[in-house]
Amino acid sequence: MRPSLAILISGRGSNMAAILGQAQAEDWAADFCLVLSNNPDAPGLQTAADYGIPTAVLNHRSYRGRRPEYDADLAARLQAAGVTWVILAGFMRILGPRFTQPFAGRILNIHPSLLPLYPGLNTHQRAIDAGDSVAGCTVHLVDETLDGGRRLAQAEVPVLPGDDANSLAARVLQQEHRLYPQVVRDLIEERLGLEPAASEHRQHAKEAVK
Ligand code: GRF
Repeated sequence: MRPSLAILISGRGSNMAAILGQAQAEDWAADFCLVLSNNPDAPGLQTAADYGIPTAVLNHRSYRGRRPEYDADLAARLQAAGVTWVILAGFMRILGPRFTQPFAGRILNIHPSLLPLYPGLNTHQRAIDAGDSVAGCTVHLVDETLDGGRRLAQAEVPVLPGDDANSLAARVLQQEHRLYPQVVRDLIEERLGLEPAASEHRQHAKEAVK
């Protein structure tokens, strides 16, 4: 069965564009069924539409103080679209169990640091402040911990004398655009050993021995 992917964004969507561009150029055996943003003004929504991908907005501002409901509605939206894999690409919301449980083991994210270093925000400034000579990015599975799920791939870049957060971010971003499409392609070609239906199989097996 062709995998069905959703990409979640909040802003410019350059990682999303790198993935969609490579998918189109290489004719990947996967369907990008939805690009969804929590931010109605995300420029990446237009980029997705230009690729012919259906887009949607689920605005977190309509859910003030009701984060679990947001997560549940987001999960329902993706389930209704038949999504097998969720690709987070600059999606600036922390997802709770009502989203991560239904999609357990099937959510990927890219983070601009060499995890486990610097989960959270301001990664580039933190790397510079720490005097690191190497920075980079990580593609990882998403669970309920902050940027703490299983790491799938990393790319390194040097921190150069005179770097500020912007110059370092730009150098890391070039690697993000190379790494993330490569990992998503490996996922589709089943080279990562991740099986979308594995948790369902486990569930059925448990029911069978009851
Ligand atoms: C990237 O740096 C990514 O690592 C982080 O958010 C940024 C998103 O950029 N999670 P873009 O929207 O893909 O251009």
